[in-house]
Amino acid sequence: MPFALPLPLRTERLVLRPWTDDDLAPYAALNADPRVMEHFPSTMTRPESDASAGRIRAALDANGIGFLAVDVPAEDVRFAGFVGLHRPAWASPFRSLTSPPVEIGWRLSRATWGRGIAREAALACLEAAFGELAVSEVVAFTVPRNVRSRRVMEAIGMIHDEAGDFDHPSLAEGHPLRRHVLYRADRTAWLSRVEANVRSGA
Ligand SMILES: CC(C)(COP(=O)(O)OP(=O)(O)OC[C@H]1O[C@@H](n2cnc3c(N)ncnc32)[C@H](O)[C@@H]1OP(=O)(O)O)[C@@H](O)C(=O)NCCC(=O)NCCS
Repeated sequence: MPFALPLPLRTERLVLRPWTDDDLAPYAALNADPRVMEHFPSTMTRPESDASAGRIRAALDANGIGFLAVDVPAEDVRFAGFVGLHRPAWASPFRSLTSPPVEIGWRLSRATWGRGIAREAALACLEAAFGELAVSEVVAFTVPRNVRSRRVMEAIGMIHDEAGDFDHPSLAEGHPLRRHVLYRADRTAWLSRVEANVRSGA
């Protein structure tokens, strides 16, 4: 991997950092919450959650980018969840300017929702992707009815590419969550047109 995220990433309120073993318990609590996992195939047991954390940590170590643990120090919140960049392991059903695609994603504990934490963390990741890492495109995807997640995508200046909507390769034909909407942020366009608007809240 020719690049790595400079860690930790810091924003006005947040610290985005590599995971520690202390994150495993709060990650399992979040993965066991049916509202957090409403748009995923199922909640996770503790072993499933630990295995998921292990894959995320291994990918971050191996690739230099990955889903990062999010702290809110001023509010004494350690591990609100994760936000970060990721390269999907599956063969991409949609075209992208990078191969494999670079995805941005997030999953936060319910207690922290609705305070702009996902937006603030995701904006820092997008800026790092387009700045230090010079990634040419970042994508995001979710099921159509995951409105909370789609609002974060839109708030950070990503654009829905309806022609790119796709069936998730990890889910069997007929699975109710198989259809996904695809959002894109193109580096050149985002840097020139979007960042100023996103920052000013326009
Ligand atoms: C999707 C998810 C990460 C969103 O997290 P979040 O932290 O609540 O998102 P935000 O707070 O950034 O945005 C939510 C709202 O808070 C508002 N908000 C509140 N305080 C804010 C502040 N200080 N600054 C900015 N926005 C603020 C935002 O305007 C936004 O409102 P809107 O949706 O009406 O535009 C979270 O709901 C989640 O973890 N869901 C379950 C997992 C999941 O579905 N992940 C995505 C799979 S693809």
